[in-house]
Amino acid sequence: MKNIDQVQRVAIVGSGIMGTLIALAFARAGYQTAAVDTGEENLARARKTAAAACRELVNAGLLEESKLDAVLKNLSFTLDWDETIAKADFIVEAVPKVLKIKQDVFERCGNLCSPETIVTSTASSLGISEIAARMKHPERALVTHCFIPAHVMPIVEVVPGKYTSDEAVQLTKAVLRSIGKKAIVCKESPGFIHNYIQIAMTRAAISLVDMGIATAEDVDTVVMHGFAMRLAQLGPIRSADYAGLETLLHVLEYVHEKTGDSTFKPPAILKEKVASGELGLKSHKGFYTYSPEEVERGNQLANDAVMRTVKA
Ligand SMILES: NC(=O)c1ccc[n+]([C@@H]2O[C@H](COP(=O)([O-])OP(=O)(O)OC[C@H]3O[C@@H](n4cnc5c(N)ncnc54)[C@H](O)[C@@H]3O)[C@@H](O)[C@H]2O)c1
Repeated sequence: MKNIDQVQRVAIVGSGIMGTLIALAFARAGYQTAAVDTGEENLARARKTAAAACRELVNAGLLEESKLDAVLKNLSFTLDWDETIAKADFIVEAVPKVLKIKQDVFERCGNLCSPETIVTSTASSLGISEIAARMKHPERALVTHCFIPAHVMPIVEVVPGKYTSDEAVQLTKAVLRSIGKKAIVCKESPGFIHNYIQIAMTRAAISLVDMGIATAEDVDTVVMHGFAMRLAQLGPIRSADYAGLETLLHVLEYVHEKTGDSTFKPPAILKEKVASGELGLKSHKGFYTYSPEEVERGNQLANDAVMRTVKA
């Protein structure tokens, strides 16, 4: 497996919205980045998208005007599949969400590039074990699930499959960190982390509208000006620790009993924690462990989180 210093040339396969913005993220970090696609019209659209995205970054104060030319110089769009892939030190696939197309791309990359070159997929739901099933050396294949807008969103889910080596995971995390991303590893599963949570919350929000309990606008307002203020700083699990896990358990049991909706069935790990006295911040331990100083500060910690969001 290569080391991070040997990763200089990056190839992106597919220059749609994801591929172009991922290519831009690599180019901004100084990588020689080439995005390959299948027709001149796709390349022309991608060049336009990249130029507009750069302009937006400058306008938002996230990229200095003086650095713009250097970024664009690192970025090219090409139809020359074979040469681009053969030369690449790191490859990201961003073709449409169709298993056969992705499998063909991985098989072709596997035949063209060095066995040491990592090939990742931006797949948001398909698993890499299936995508890389026909590829040579599938131990260097994994998912790197990026989010729109991919040149700005900091998080990337790294999802190894049943063939992926630990070296491939470590190098991929290092490469992602080098372009300013937070890389979080999770197991192959429907929706991974981000979408599993997001779809559950969105389903609950739409159900409230469906049941006539509130309007869509009011549901959005409650979320935006309610728990989202805390979540942006703490995440849902630390928030639950701060509120008290026994409180969460009681609320879940009540809503589960009243609605009969299995979504609200308390997870076994929550029941076990409450039964063993791990109630969160107030008992020094919940899903996280807290220092005596944190316990002493108690609710102030949760309040500080909301203040940080208000300030931001
Ligand atoms: N759009 C999103 O919100 C989003 C978010 C996360 C992940 N994803 C994932 O990213 C991937 C790409 O999504 P997108 O929205 O950019 O799709 P898109 O349709 O905009 O772009 C796909 C590009 O791939 C090109 N392509 C097709 N076959 C090719 C081949 N053999 N070689 C080279 N290029 C080829 C197409 O011409 C097109 O330009 C999908 O797997 C999707 O699931 C998308």
